[in-house]
Amino acid sequence: MHYFAYKGKRFCAEGVAIEKIVKEVGTPVYVYSEKTLKRHYKAFDSAFAKTRRMICYSVKANSNIAVLKTFADMGSGFDIVSGGELFRALKAGADPSRIVFSGVGKRPDEIEYAIKSRILMFNVESPQELRAIDAIAGRLRKKAGIAIRVNPNVDPKTHPYISTGLKKNKFGIETEEAVREYVHAKARLKNVAPMGVDCHIGSQITEISPFVDALAKTRALLSTLRNEGLEIKYLDMGGGLGITYDKEEPPLPSRYGQAVIEGTKGLDVTLIFEPGRAMVGNAGILVTKALYTKKGSAKNFVIVDAGMNDLARPSLYGSYHAIKPVRLTDRPEITADVVGPICESGDFLAKDRLIPEVEPGESLAVMSAGAYGFSMSSNYNTRPRVAEVMASGASYSVIRKRETLADLVKGEQVAGAKGRRTK
Ligand code: LLP
Repeated sequence: MHYFAYKGKRFCAEGVAIEKIVKEVGTPVYVYSEKTLKRHYKAFDSAFAKTRRMICYSVKANSNIAVLKTFADMGSGFDIVSGGELFRALKAGADPSRIVFSGVGKRPDEIEYAIKSRILMFNVESPQELRAIDAIAGRLRKKAGIAIRVNPNVDPKTHPYISTGLKKNKFGIETEEAVREYVHAKARLKNVAPMGVDCHIGSQITEISPFVDALAKTRALLSTLRNEGLEIKYLDMGGGLGITYDKEEPPLPSRYGQAVIEGTKGLDVTLIFEPGRAMVGNAGILVTKALYTKKGSAKNFVIVDAGMNDLARPSLYGSYHAIKPVRLTDRPEITADVVGPICESGDFLAKDRLIPEVEPGESLAVMSAGAYGFSMSSNYNTRPRVAEVMASGASYSVIRKRETLADLVKGEQVAGAKGRRTK
């Protein structure tokens, strides 16, 4: 459910006509709906109303501080994977005691920053990382909360690039080894406090069974650990709940909640969730303008001003994003590739898509672009990153300015211009 809809012929974000944003802010532009963000957070949180829980929104999905603040104000915690994300979360007013730090390659300086910021816990992904955290915490004379991310070897049945819980994936520690690490941490590593078990199996999961399978395995691990005398207080289920891009029918948060509550009955833990996509995916669109249209002998092309550097998902995963005209017309439909200006054949937003004929200068809305849209965008082809806008009721705010040409060369200098390096 989201608040993007036609009012008459004009496509709107809540009460704001997209055409107005296009006129005032330009294109390409990401537009988010605040009411949708809030609705998604509430739907997820209330699915667990009867349990002890912490929703830790996964910052990587959309890290704009206005988005983070919207969730922080609703009581959300955060799942971070870098010092940069920690900085953003704190800037948005996050409560550090509701922050978990995931990721396979945490650098020493990032670990130190997180310990000093007093985050809740690290989701540890390797034995060496565990020892590194212990050593850094020792140096700082602090105790770091930890969970081990276990790799339950469950197939999430999603795109291979975003499946993470299989033995062949780089993530987490296999269950048997994880038990040994917990026992070692308890007995020998004085500067870490094992307090949780963590498991994240992948993203855009549209069935309930992979979650249930992973939960059963984690549950078994939890009782083994308790038998070993470990005091496990948190069970982090990761993120991964899918959304509808096209015809997918992912479980509603309430259904997911039911399954998790069923699977954790009697466990006496605080549940942690790290949803990203389910919070923001359908709360954002990318608005782009048609520059030219072109008819080849094999294909029709609509060439637009947003490219794979602005929204990488179609090129990277072959993902489907619905495309809607910002103003409805009576024109007939054509089958076309909607492509960007980047010098790569892989630069497309849609392939062989049935859309109403488009004229240059008209705008299109690329739907479901709120998650992994702007956050994965780049300056490839030296293109300024686009503006982001938050619609709220009848008004909107620019929550990130469009980058300028000067921004593009910030920090660069001609070699040898200053402080020439000698061998
Ligand atoms: N927790 C961990 C440890 C993760 O690695 C991720 C996502 C999440 C939570 C949030 O997962 P979500 O609820 O959003 O599924 N760029 C890809 C998705 C990559 C997901 C990476 N990890 C895409 O555009 O589909």
